[in-house]
Amino acid sequence: MSVTSSDSASHSGALEGSSAALEGSNAKRGLWSSRLAFILAATGSAVGLGNIWKFPYVTGENGGGAFVLVYLLCIAIVGIPIMMAEVMIGRRGGYSPVKSLSQIAERDRLKPAWKLVGAVGILAGFLILSFYSVIGGWAISYVGTTASGQLSGQSADAVGAIFSGLLSDPTTLLAWHTLFMALVMVVVVRGVRSGLERAVSILMPALFVLLLIVVGYAMTTGHFGQAAAFLFQPDFSKLTTSGILVALGHAFFTLSLGMAVMMAYGSYLPKNISIAKTSITVSVIDTGVALLAGLAIFPIVFANGLEPGAGPGLIFQTLPLAFGQMPMGSFFGTLFFVLLVFAAWTSGISLLEPIVEWLEERKGMNRTVSTLGAGIVCWALGIASILSLNLWADFAPLGFVPMLEGKTIFDLLDFFTANIMLPLGGLLVALFAGWVMSRQAMEKELALSPGMFNLWLITVRFVTPVAVAVVFIYNLM
Ligand code: PHE
Repeated sequence: MSVTSSDSASHSGALEGSSAALEGSNAKRGLWSSRLAFILAATGSAVGLGNIWKFPYVTGENGGGAFVLVYLLCIAIVGIPIMMAEVMIGRRGGYSPVKSLSQIAERDRLKPAWKLVGAVGILAGFLILSFYSVIGGWAISYVGTTASGQLSGQSADAVGAIFSGLLSDPTTLLAWHTLFMALVMVVVVRGVRSGLERAVSILMPALFVLLLIVVGYAMTTGHFGQAAAFLFQPDFSKLTTSGILVALGHAFFTLSLGMAVMMAYGSYLPKNISIAKTSITVSVIDTGVALLAGLAIFPIVFANGLEPGAGPGLIFQTLPLAFGQMPMGSFFGTLFFVLLVFAAWTSGISLLEPIVEWLEERKGMNRTVSTLGAGIVCWALGIASILSLNLWADFAPLGFVPMLEGKTIFDLLDFFTANIMLPLGGLLVALFAGWVMSRQAMEKELALSPGMFNLWLITVRFVTPVAVAVVFIYNLM
């Protein structure tokens, strides 16, 4: 079994803790089922800035309801089947993603070319972390901003000015980015996840409750109905082809798919646990957090006459307003941003982990060297994203391509990773599961009823590849 094989345990120091938690929970405490431990690790990766920062602003930029509907469809018919495929490949292979893929491919006499899937994923994770850490830095900085009480009773303009002030200051941004990256590296270098998982089990529900509190406040603004209509009444005239691409890309981003994270976690999932049920649970929690964030933010947007399409600053211009106005707002606000940092942190760890694992396994570096190396290069790349927000705000390196007009380095990193690389990684995973792995092996791993298995197989064989291909081709045209 992958969890106990010494080979798989040694492939990743960082996950040793989690495999220990998986086993420990079975053997000693009985309090945590192994299923719960996996769900916590996977949820820790999935729930992050994607849900609370990115989902509301891309929804706002893409006109609301119709975009949300496409996003939900992408989660259901592309995201969940691919998550199942990733977890299954990981558990079947029992190693790190790159090794699992080539092992399964070899085992089934197929080309190790599938290593490419892991390679795309590792590169995507690296690029994502570089800007993810910058946004994580914004979240850290807002812990202080809310705690200081300077937001209480402020107008939308004043709150907006605080945010623009932050963006215009590269040195401060760099300091917070450095702190965020350091937090991620400290955990990855130690290779202990068990403590984090325990923390996730407390902090994620707490984040959920805080979101509910903000939603409760949002209901008192008198614009809740308008926000709900914005989110859930599809107006297809507002949906563009690029909006569909963003929705698809975001489904991958928010579920941490297409870069083999779930594959890595799957290699620690005990054989008797249902892959379908756990994948669905993680996806439902993740989607729930995103929708709650939307319900928390848009009433504030409308109540204050703000612009739904304000872009990446949306939550930093709306939530502080809410915290500035509600009773005990400084307290709730501080707590909220602490929890947001935490959610971002657990996701950041899962972005760095695959690269470090790969450096260890392939390049024979030890964990400290590989964490430091990958972390520092990623941190340095993050500086380009920081400068995109101020000094290089008008620099659009690929602006000559019509689709990429006006996109800063930060925008380009986000665009290429979330909208191109992750769906491409997901497409390869779907093809691998649909056409390369042996059917018996998959039937055994998934243990679904024949009807459900066939439904899943048809999805990964045809529906997912066609959906991704169609969205890609439409956007190129
Ligand atoms: N899913 C994370 C989020 O929503 C981001 C992430 C993407 C993490 C890909 C790991 C891999 O914030």
